[in-house]
Amino acid sequence: MATGLSNSSVATPQKERSLTWSTWIEVNLDALGHNLQEIEQHSHSPILPILKADAYGHGAPVVAAFLQSLGYHFMAVSTVEEALSILECTKPTLLVLTPPSLEQLPLVLQHGIIPTITSPRLVVELGKLAQQKRQKVVVHLKIDTGLGRLGVAPKDAWEIIRLIKNTPYLSLGGIFTHFSEAFKNSSFTKTQLNRLLEFRTQLSKTDPVQLLWHAANSAAFLSLPASHLDLVRIGTLLYGQTPLPLDPTWHLQETWRVKARLLQIRTLPKGHGVGYGRDYRARKAIRVGVIALGFCHGVELEPQGTPKHQLKVALGRLIHAQHPKVFYQDQSLPLIGRIGMGLSCVDLNSVPELDVGQELTVPMRRVTASAHLPRLYYYQERLHCVFWNSKFYYKGQWRTNSRGLFLTKFPPHRGSSPEPHTLVGQ
Ligand SMILES: Cc1ncc(COP(=O)(O)O)c(C=O)c1O
Repeated sequence: MATGLSNSSVATPQKERSLTWSTWIEVNLDALGHNLQEIEQHSHSPILPILKADAYGHGAPVVAAFLQSLGYHFMAVSTVEEALSILECTKPTLLVLTPPSLEQLPLVLQHGIIPTITSPRLVVELGKLAQQKRQKVVVHLKIDTGLGRLGVAPKDAWEIIRLIKNTPYLSLGGIFTHFSEAFKNSSFTKTQLNRLLEFRTQLSKTDPVQLLWHAANSAAFLSLPASHLDLVRIGTLLYGQTPLPLDPTWHLQETWRVKARLLQIRTLPKGHGVGYGRDYRARKAIRVGVIALGFCHGVELEPQGTPKHQLKVALGRLIHAQHPKVFYQDQSLPLIGRIGMGLSCVDLNSVPELDVGQELTVPMRRVTASAHLPRLYYYQERLHCVFWNSKFYYKGQWRTNSRGLFLTKFPPHRGSSPEPHTLVGQ
């Protein structure tokens, strides 16, 4: 993956007894705010932050509360369940990017969620319920312009738009599409955009209503400015990563890192095995550190590749340079032996100064990091709150509300996001 990122420093966790873990995730909210500003500076349109997959592993409730404090009140998630996990804590306007199941329609109404429509049946069922409750529902329609996944073909969208128009209490707030290979910088992205724009032109001839048209994800945002339209749906860039090389005007910061504390250090003699199966044998006396990190935390949960890819990974592991590593400050340390369910071992021969309790940084895929790992949120370079096992630690104590959740608060901030009602077309 291309870089263009700078490291940002985060204060180490407070040494309060109730706030120490063996393994934890640090989320740098200042970096998140900084990245938003960077995106704003490069954008022709308002940003719709994407908080799917638990805000890409950052913990969606706190990220949503923080973004609201910056003036962003309209966000998107993937599913109704994800929307509820945010709405139990804070109240942004949420677009759900996948169609709700029929069983979830009452929740859509109850929580004022903006659903994505992908079939006439959904319009009919949602319309019935909205009429029963006498409640207005704004919807967005997803058009498939070439990804071949969710959405309806442009030719089938006409019927759905007509149906929505004729359904009391339903109103169409936006129409969107999703790109299939914007990360390749390919001409197919332009083809997809042109299909959407062609549809927009046709629709404006028969039905000149004001709608939000949106298409760009992070890759299209970078590679095809014409795709910015009325909103840009941004996840990857917001969280400090990039799908395409960035030009020197970009300065994204890292927002997320995993830390693990050394639980034990022992010197094993030459020939001693390390870990299950004794796959690793010490070629000389070795100082082995143990950290609480394994499958249960989401390590090594990369998708299964093709056999060719798996062979490449296995070969890479044989070569020391590609062995999985952890870091002490800037120094990389090889993980040795098999990764266990909850423990891994580190070769500490190159860092004799390290002692039990010291912290290592662990590279990990963010969206597969376990939700059970505590998220420690740093704001203005201090620990602001912690989210762990459905509880929040904030202002010196663990708190939950009657539903087991607690709202963390951020002071209001400047922000350039439009008011939610102008965005959702209510
Ligand atoms: C429909 C849709 N739009 C936008 C995004 C954001 O994409 P990115 O993380 O590339 O910005 C996603 C993420 O998967 C998505 O599913």
